[in-house]
Amino acid sequence: MSILTIAKMGHPVLRRVAAKVDDPTDPAIARLAADMRDTLEEIGASGLAATQVFVEKRIVVYRVGASRIPAGSGLQPVPWTVMINPVITPLTDDKVAVWERCLSIPGLHGKVPRYPRISIRYQTLEGGIVEHEAHSSWAALLQHECDHLDGVLYPMQMDDLSLLAFNEAPGALAQEADANPSQVDPLFLDLVERWPARERWQT
Ligand code: NI
Repeated sequence: MSILTIAKMGHPVLRRVAAKVDDPTDPAIARLAADMRDTLEEIGASGLAATQVFVEKRIVVYRVGASRIPAGSGLQPVPWTVMINPVITPLTDDKVAVWERCLSIPGLHGKVPRYPRISIRYQTLEGGIVEHEAHSSWAALLQHECDHLDGVLYPMQMDDLSLLAFNEAPGALAQEADANPSQVDPLFLDLVERWPARERWQT
């Protein structure tokens, strides 16, 4: 087991386009995926792309934990999943903005336009092909992680940078948490709960 170092925004590796994995069954790929999962479990996080750990290959490891599901989303937990060479196809024309954080951008959160319904196709470590649909914050997570494989970080997808904020000052997030809590990821509701100035500033 290895805990891997995560590249931070500004490091050139995060802007690189990762290379396709020719042989998903190569044991070295399985070892890397296991280390990525160990790293996520150590931090308590949900998703990681290989470029974030300085490996320029198209590999994503993620989960949707029960504690990260918005109450009104209808999502179910997703166990740890390794996606090799994932390809996303949007199933809607319009995007819906979703709150996101990134291990490569510690301390910040932002509201990012994402397709609310997608189809994703990827290879497994066993060499099989999986294709399924995903919606709401699950779909957003998959878009966020697959963007990393193309050198794209979530602020690059934002169309309203007034919604990029420090975790210690979650003003816009707090407004939304009050107005529509059932649609907000509990991780973000927690930021609002822990904001000492909430009562003073929130109207
Ligand atoms: Ni990220």
